[in-house]
Amino acid sequence: MGKIGTVGIIGAGQMGGGIAHVAALAGYDVLLYDISKDRIEKGIATVSGNMARQVASGKMPEQTRNAAVGRIRPAETMQDLAGADLVIEAATEDETVKRKIFQQLCPVLNPEALLATNTSSISITRMAASTDRPERFIGIHFMNPVPVMKLVELVRGIATVDQTFEAAKAFVHSLDKTITVAEDFPAFIVNRILLPMINEAIYVLYEGVGTVEGIDTAMKLGANHPMGPLQLADFIGLDTCLSIMQVLHDGLSDTKYRPCPLLVKYVEAGWLGRKAGRGFYDYR
Ligand code: CAA
Repeated sequence: MGKIGTVGIIGAGQMGGGIAHVAALAGYDVLLYDISKDRIEKGIATVSGNMARQVASGKMPEQTRNAAVGRIRPAETMQDLAGADLVIEAATEDETVKRKIFQQLCPVLNPEALLATNTSSISITRMAASTDRPERFIGIHFMNPVPVMKLVELVRGIATVDQTFEAAKAFVHSLDKTITVAEDFPAFIVNRILLPMINEAIYVLYEGVGTVEGIDTAMKLGANHPMGPLQLADFIGLDTCLSIMQVLHDGLSDTKYRPCPLLVKYVEAGWLGRKAGRGFYDYR
């Protein structure tokens, strides 16, 4: 397995942009792909803005930012990812969408290249089996906001070989992140624990036990969480929260993972949280 020099990232949203941010800062050449040029440009502009905050707070010299932003190039077609040594898929948390991406990507990708998914809940083994390289497929799950959060979960599929695991491990360490290894079970470790807590907070709201502000204040000041669970849900995206709860519910067949009907209703309304301008809070 060759050295990783160029990293392709599929999805220029919250997670893909964050991964591009840390990979470019670590010196990798980054190819950022999304379904439109507009989305890619928006993603690069967001990375540039987030780095500007780091410059402003004295954590990064201006030249470092300029060099890192310069290492992120747009990939306007899948073909543009042909030269990548590692591709990380960070598209919507929807298995059908992800499988379609792998189907289009695999034929153009270098046969030696590693393929990773940033899925926060979906089976690595099942997705790996839909590709031409299950032995070189792995879950590399970053936390949001990627530039700030130290943890990355590494998840092997049943066919992932040791060289793939070691290469992924070295890549994540080069980003100055801490690894936790999780087995390939629904939602792995962080989201298996975090999402039922968020879902329960939504039930607490649904049942009228507390208000939005009351619930968040309770958990911030009563449990020392940096954000309340409803604010965090808005921050993650309510569509992503619902997808993860559905994966837990379907995969573990236990009613304790039933998505709260209020969460379902908000997603149906398009109130997806901060990115949509409205969720449990109003961001407009
Ligand atoms: N890029 C770069 N830097 C960023 C950033 C970003 N996207 N977002 C925040 N920061 C930096 C800020 O610049 C700031 O830096 P300085 O201290 O140098 O000024 C620092 O982070 C703190 O930010 P803020 O002052 O704006 O706000 P804050 O103190 O309230 O912290 C937070 C914000 C770090 C997001 C904090 O509220 C927090 O830790 N929240 C919980 C986040 C969390 O739980 N994430 C996990 C979500 S679950 C997940 O990701 C898994 C999944 O699959 C769903």
